[in-house]
Amino acid sequence: MAPIAQRARGTQDLLPADQPYWETMEAAARDQASRFGYQRIETPTFEATELFQRGAGESSDIVAKEMYTFTDRGNRSLTLRPEGTAPIVRAYFDAGLDQEPQPVRLFYMGPYFRYDRPQAGRFREFRQFGIEAIGDGSPVIDVESILIGWSWFAALDVGGVSLHLNSIGDEVCRPAYRERLREYYRPHLSQLSEESRTRFEKNPLRLFDSKDPQDAALKRDAPHIVDHLCAPCAEAFRVVKEGLASEEIPFELNPELVRGLDYYTRTVFEFQHASLGGAQNALGGGGRYDGLAAALGYRSTPGVGFAMGMDRTAIALKESKPATPVVPDVYAVALDAADELYVLHLASSVRALGYRVVFDPGPARLDAKLRKAVKRGARVALIVGPEEREKKQIVIRDMRAKTQTSVAEQELLSTVGPMLGGA
Ligand code: HAM
Repeated sequence: MAPIAQRARGTQDLLPADQPYWETMEAAARDQASRFGYQRIETPTFEATELFQRGAGESSDIVAKEMYTFTDRGNRSLTLRPEGTAPIVRAYFDAGLDQEPQPVRLFYMGPYFRYDRPQAGRFREFRQFGIEAIGDGSPVIDVESILIGWSWFAALDVGGVSLHLNSIGDEVCRPAYRERLREYYRPHLSQLSEESRTRFEKNPLRLFDSKDPQDAALKRDAPHIVDHLCAPCAEAFRVVKEGLASEEIPFELNPELVRGLDYYTRTVFEFQHASLGGAQNALGGGGRYDGLAAALGYRSTPGVGFAMGMDRTAIALKESKPATPVVPDVYAVALDAADELYVLHLASSVRALGYRVVFDPGPARLDAKLRKAVKRGARVALIVGPEEREKKQIVIRDMRAKTQTSVAEQELLSTVGPMLGGA
């Protein structure tokens, strides 16, 4: 009979061999975030659909075509979260964090869902590590945000990451720029791809996201918003650039970087990686979202943050270095079924010292068992066979030196400890 189901398209199993990369990413995320005073928050995996419609915005690809939306038994429209920023702003107000000293600095890690065509580096379920600093409009916090992202990649030692930076203005300067951009494109509408014609109507800034060769020539000469910022936006952008320079974070000004979510204002940035290529080269991205809280119906409150794609970062990590798997310290072997519970018990006593001890079940010849111990990378094997049982002894084998000694049970811990570098 065929197996009942295949893994759903666009999902992955994170297998034991993948886990060292994930543990490294998670540990570095916790470490970097807490060094900057960010505290962990986790929000639900699904939320009211309207939260994302109003947050990411109707013109974003996420809302237009990528949401996993369903109606529950109470006839509510719910959506598997496609991104984390809108839920965190909701939680910030729900929990009264707006009453605490500002900014409130938060970080998070977990799964997100977007219905998109799966390809290398693009999944329907993927995981993000993100941070949000809510309640302060200073561009210095934008610099802090980028610095945390940069430090995370540095801690992971992923090479080849480049930072792309832009400012997309705010509600003061963007409307006029949007019109300027429309004026530029209007005489050439018939030359544009269909998708770009839709963007022209809904959100002309996203014309810069077009990868269609048909749109390339017009895009090249289009006016850029960085050249049309109002004075406060221009000043904020100057501070961000100066801050990055003083932190010695190299960046590339990318006037075509507009990001795919509607909530951004002023600073936007992306961490790109050459080897991933194509549209999937962003390892992470973020920016300032001073209008988001108001779009969700809350008191207007500034915020800035980023989210890193951990699945993509795992790909980059795997390319750059082999993982160090977690190996057992001790491999515990009984040669006779009658001794298994005894060996299980010995294993517990060594484990109580803090070591990783794997018990090997079932009958097999000693050489077969030792081969398994070598394969698992254990440093020491404990062996009890009929002879040892008779003499009330345990064989302790140094798997690297390929030497072994027999000791009485009461000497077990004092012998194994020093072999593993302990007391
Ligand atoms: P985003 O750019 O939509 O931003 O996603 C951030 C990162 O998540 C991307 O750069 C990418 O690495 C990863 N990612 C997105 N979609 C997929 C996918 N289908 N498969 C694999 N990885 C993916 C946000 O989500 C914003 N909430 C970031 C933010 C936080 N802005 C301010 N604060």
